[in-house]
Amino acid sequence: FIRHCTGWRRLYSSVGASDIDHFKSILPPAAILSTVSPSALPSAELDPYNNDWMGKYHGSATTVLRPKTTQQVSDIVRWCASRNIAIVPQGGNTGLVGGSVPLHDELIVSLANMNTVRSFDPVSGILVADAGCILQSLTDYVAPHNHIMPIDLGAKGSCHIGGNVATNAGGLRLLRYGSLHGSVLGLEVVLPDGTILDQLTTLRKDNTGYDLKQLFIGAEGTLGIITAVSVLTPPSPQASNNVILALPHFDNVLPLYKTVKRQLSEILSAFEFIDRTAYDLAVKHGQGRALSDEDVDGAACFVLVETSGGRREHDEEKLTDLLTSLLEADSPLINTGVLSQNPAQFSSLWALREGVTEAVSKEGKAYKYDISIPLASFKDVVDATREHLRSKGLLGDHAVKHVLGYGHVGDGNLHLNIIAAAYTQEIQDALEPFVYELVASYRGSISAEHGIGAMKTHALHYSKNDVSIEWMKKIKALFDPLGIMNPGKVLE
Ligand code: FAD
Ligand code: MLT
Ligand code: ZN
Repeated sequence: FIRHCTGWRRLYSSVGASDIDHFKSILPPAAILSTVSPSALPSAELDPYNNDWMGKYHGSATTVLRPKTTQQVSDIVRWCASRNIAIVPQGGNTGLVGGSVPLHDELIVSLANMNTVRSFDPVSGILVADAGCILQSLTDYVAPHNHIMPIDLGAKGSCHIGGNVATNAGGLRLLRYGSLHGSVLGLEVVLPDGTILDQLTTLRKDNTGYDLKQLFIGAEGTLGIITAVSVLTPPSPQASNNVILALPHFDNVLPLYKTVKRQLSEILSAFEFIDRTAYDLAVKHGQGRALSDEDVDGAACFVLVETSGGRREHDEEKLTDLLTSLLEADSPLINTGVLSQNPAQFSSLWALREGVTEAVSKEGKAYKYDISIPLASFKDVVDATREHLRSKGLLGDHAVKHVLGYGHVGDGNLHLNIIAAAYTQEIQDALEPFVYELVASYRGSISAEHGIGAMKTHALHYSKNDVSIEWMKKIKALFDPLGIMNPGKVLE
């Protein structure tokens, strides 16, 4: 660590009193939070910025800047480039791979004050918003116009649209609306030398050469700071319903998915999976309302199906027909199905799925693996990981308490979580490279949707070949020759 730190010192400058003086010429005093003399805020004031959502990654930034305008961001970055000060762009700090907090004492540029909607066209549904707008506020903003955001995730109350784009977050609506690579139409980005790249187009079609904005979607702040986003918002469905299905075996998930797709066709909008352990934890930690004992009896796992369509009666009829045919089949794929009857029950069923993340973090310290693998292997991967930990003598209340799986079946994305009493090197060594080798054996992805951040830089090669990594490095060097933009993230 010391050698690492010394190398860092040679590469980057720390923020000093003269830098703070300069920042004062760019920003009002309230937008500068610093422990550097003479400001000398207590360092605890910076804790929410220096520590990530899971309490796993910890930075030691001395200064957080909260600009309000793109020009201010540009002026800050230009100064940092001239002084070799490394920067961590930060949104809602809900990232799960340690990308949003410093590795050392980088300057944090928080986008939280850039939270204005720039325009919304109710005819096309195109929304242009500052990067720091909270996802839930944007959902609320477009709702009266009968539009929804194309993305939804459990962190919606805190994460920013800029953070969503920077991580190319997937979430609960990807099955219906596709990834942000499709729904983001334009971006405004401050490049690592301070240049403002204005690609904030609101055009649906624009084939004028290289589509530069795509590079910043999922770049996790390593190529520049996103300051505004233009996004296509779909019309609100006229009717949404959901049902939780209890399954006796995991093996039924695949045939169930095929049946559900065939019967619901265009109205299917989500097909989400939680195993029994995930369900029990969600209930234990008060996420959503528990199903009755009778409904969960003998259930090995659960699937949440959502429909979104144009006519309530039509959709309800389809969903009821589906349930009836599933329950009356000769060898039923499900034990029971619980259909929501009103908006409160609809939200409560969703909370059982969305709340797993929160429940996991209340239960203990989570090692989170977010992987793309063939759907048929979801259970094998969870079981193999549990057995591997058992063989190392690490299963038990003193070490690993639970190994569980949940995720987005429709997207082939499993969240493999290992909950322990504490983060320890022993558990870490047991899990890695074991999990990554397992994923690579399926030619899967070590990051389906959360990104690489600081957590997986050393493991990138399990999912990207040497040529791909070499070109990623060339792109990074082209945009950021000084390497000041979120160093140590994505690429080592
Ligand atoms: P941060 O956490 O602040 O930052 C994440 C990364 O993006 C960092 O590398 C940061 O440097 C960079 N960044 C942030 N803002 C900018 C910007 N303006 N310009 C350039 N770089 C920037 N993720 C999913 O994909 N799907 C889910 O379903 C999902 N559910 C979640 C549920 C919970 C309860 C939690 C806590 C997290 C969940 N996440 C999920 C992970 C996380 O919420 C997403 O990755 C989210 O998009 C991060 O947004 P943020 O604003 O919090 O970004
Ligand atoms: C989810 O699907 O719930 C999120 O990606 C968060 C998580 O993996 O816990
Ligand atoms: Zn997810």
